[in-house]
Amino acid sequence: MKIRNPRTFQVKSFGCQMNVYDGERMTELLEAEGLAAAADGEEADLVVLNTCHIREKAAEKVYSEIGRIVGRDAPPMIAVAGCVAQAEGAEISRRAPGVDIVVGPQAYHNLPALIRRAKAGERAVDTDMPAASKFGALPARRRLAPSAFLTVQEGCDKFCTYCVVPYTRGAEVSRPWAAIVDEAKALADAGAREITLLGQNVNAWSGEDENGRTQGLGGLIRALDALPGLARIRYTTSHPNDMAEDLIRAHAEVPKLMPYLHLPVQSGSDRILKAMNRSHTTDSYLRIIERVRAVRTDIAVSGDFIVGFPGETEADFEATLRIVEAVNYAQAFSFKYSPRPGTPAADMAEQVGAEIMDERLQRLQALLREKQLAFNQASVGRRTEVLLERAGRKPGQLVGKSPWLQSVHLETSTAIGEIVDVEILSAGPNSLAGAPLMRTAA
Ligand code: 5AD
Ligand code: SF4
Repeated sequence: MKIRNPRTFQVKSFGCQMNVYDGERMTELLEAEGLAAAADGEEADLVVLNTCHIREKAAEKVYSEIGRIVGRDAPPMIAVAGCVAQAEGAEISRRAPGVDIVVGPQAYHNLPALIRRAKAGERAVDTDMPAASKFGALPARRRLAPSAFLTVQEGCDKFCTYCVVPYTRGAEVSRPWAAIVDEAKALADAGAREITLLGQNVNAWSGEDENGRTQGLGGLIRALDALPGLARIRYTTSHPNDMAEDLIRAHAEVPKLMPYLHLPVQSGSDRILKAMNRSHTTDSYLRIIERVRAVRTDIAVSGDFIVGFPGETEADFEATLRIVEAVNYAQAFSFKYSPRPGTPAADMAEQVGAEIMDERLQRLQALLREKQLAFNQASVGRRTEVLLERAGRKPGQLVGKSPWLQSVHLETSTAIGEIVDVEILSAGPNSLAGAPLMRTAA
């Protein structure tokens, strides 16, 4: 018998950091409504699938997951949230009749009302993008982990020709200064030591401070630097065209701002960048990296890459390998181009064949792995601060992050949430191993 009156719930997030943030806020909302998070391994009465639409594979996962869940002896109430919900709306419940609720990323504050409708046996769909933001209707933040996400900006007006984000998340909107500062305070009071400011174009954030002065992301970061308890600030994802001078300067001047910049370039070929409507060139991108490195020499640069964009030739792809060499990325994410319904690139002639894409992705990833390993190996023998975030696999082992976002494994009796001095002993492509140092009294 299908469950109609849920008491426990599970939120499963499939996507980017903002998708994870939305999942945390839905968790807080459902708990405020009196539902309890299902224990690990327990089948929940309400399953919220917090979906991602960025690439085809991510979207397909949703339907296979729904198939698994409706096959249970007592199928739960199912809510599809996230960007697939926004893109496909009521179509989802037609394709997957077991789905009770469809709720978009700008409407999830309405989940309690949607659950009430689903309890009454109604199919509830809400993919509105209301003018009043969802944030005002959500319960206050509470402690989740030493490192917390905070959405400051949503949506995108850039319309890169491959990307669904402008359609699923809507136009660029900045949350107000005071709402962000209040949420950051609540997170710091609840024990967060690190906050990562999130936005699809986070560095396009703008607003007015409490004195009515126009500020950009750099100004916001400077204000958060003053919050006691908070030790680290990060931000992601940035667009090259919004890399303002004040934000670059913040990397030199704000002690809590970590030396890490995620600045996707997508391709190293100007011809492809133009077809992608990226509105920057390889040269303008490299000049930004140069300016950032001039004020913060040790900054770790990371990026996103797409291989096999329509019309990409071997020469274009080799230009991508060259920009990887030129930047020396510390970390990177690389993807095969995935045609997305409704985007201009999906209709372009000259789609690249699957085999060529596979081969290019392998070559790119081999080079990126080499760069990442070299970056990590350069840390060996150094002393660095590590924010302890979670238990490791071995007893007594904890895992934390260096300022450069490297995972560091170490044995320590210090509690999770503390920052410890560590000597880095060895490095692999994905993580470092270290040993805690005794702090000597001054
Ligand atoms: N195909 C492949 N990768 C994509 N990305 C965005 N859209 C697509 C697509 N259609 C990648 C970009 C972006 C990251 C979040 O996902 O590299 O920066
Ligand atoms: Fe998508 Fe381009 Fe906007 Fe990034 S900047 S979210 S890739 S449209």
